[in-house]
Amino acid sequence: MAIDKKFIDQFIKVTSKAALSSSYLVGKKDKIAADKAAVDSMRLELNKMDIKGRIVIGEGELDEAPMLYIGEEVGNKKGPELDFAVDPLEGTNFVANNLPGALAVIAVAEKNNLFNAPETYMEKISTKAKEKNVVDLDYSVKKNIFNLSEYLNKKPENLTACILDRPRHNKIINELSDLNVNIKLITDGDVCGALLVTDEKYNVDIFLGTGGGPEGVIAATALDAFDCSFQGRFLFKTDEDKKRANKMGIKDFSKKYELNEIISGDSIFCATGITSGDLVSGIEIKGNQFISETLVTHKSSGLKKVIKLDQNIL
Ligand code: FBP
Repeated sequence: MAIDKKFIDQFIKVTSKAALSSSYLVGKKDKIAADKAAVDSMRLELNKMDIKGRIVIGEGELDEAPMLYIGEEVGNKKGPELDFAVDPLEGTNFVANNLPGALAVIAVAEKNNLFNAPETYMEKISTKAKEKNVVDLDYSVKKNIFNLSEYLNKKPENLTACILDRPRHNKIINELSDLNVNIKLITDGDVCGALLVTDEKYNVDIFLGTGGGPEGVIAATALDAFDCSFQGRFLFKTDEDKKRANKMGIKDFSKKYELNEIISGDSIFCATGITSGDLVSGIEIKGNQFISETLVTHKSSGLKKVIKLDQNIL
């Protein structure tokens, strides 16, 4: 069963209002307040909807997150059963420090079709190539680049890889440099990073590296609608991590997840800009109105576009 198109506009409102709420804290050096503003708004708006929703990826478990915690029910219970992965503020540093690229994000799937990801790191890889065996988490950087180069008919020196700028990625970055691949380093925000492979205008051919697991699942939802590839593998460092994962039903701690094991069936993805970035422009306030840009996908209808809205603040 598809998710009714009528919900698209409603979810755009949910993320655009979360983005507006957080936008008041741009440059105020307060990551926690910026996140809370987006979370409170998103929860309020979701609870107005005619849905029987459940948060599967949220702000953490009940003991650490009173709002939008994993397992929290949202909506007025009068509509379809939907599962949610929410990242009300993706890029807390960006808002705190008035940097480009902060987003308010939601991914929606039919019940039980969205992977219940633990709050841990995930190794990720995404490209435009949907075919299997072009890029793979199990291949070396060199093999991935050579395969992609052949597949896209572009020399390695004409390929661009996007990766989070972290010391843990030094080895991968050095290998990419040795292959003469162009590197787009991002300081944060790997939901956006992973999505830069979706359109040639971003000039990114491959996204790779380790970032948040929840962000991986959220990005996978949009990548599925764009017909791009994604693989993820969780990294469980401590026994506590493994215990939590086990409770969520994960038995094989080193499993590589394919896109269709993370998200299946229909989905909606909305990412509204708080500050302007590669995907969308940030919130602009004009008197009592605010203008927002949201990247939206709806898998079953094939919708994939940026929607600009001019709404009343109140
Ligand atoms: P926050 O918005 O929660 O700060 O996350 C930003 C982010 O850059 C994610 O996009 C990414 O997945 C993760 O942090 C990377 O984690 P770390 O900063 O620990 O490397």
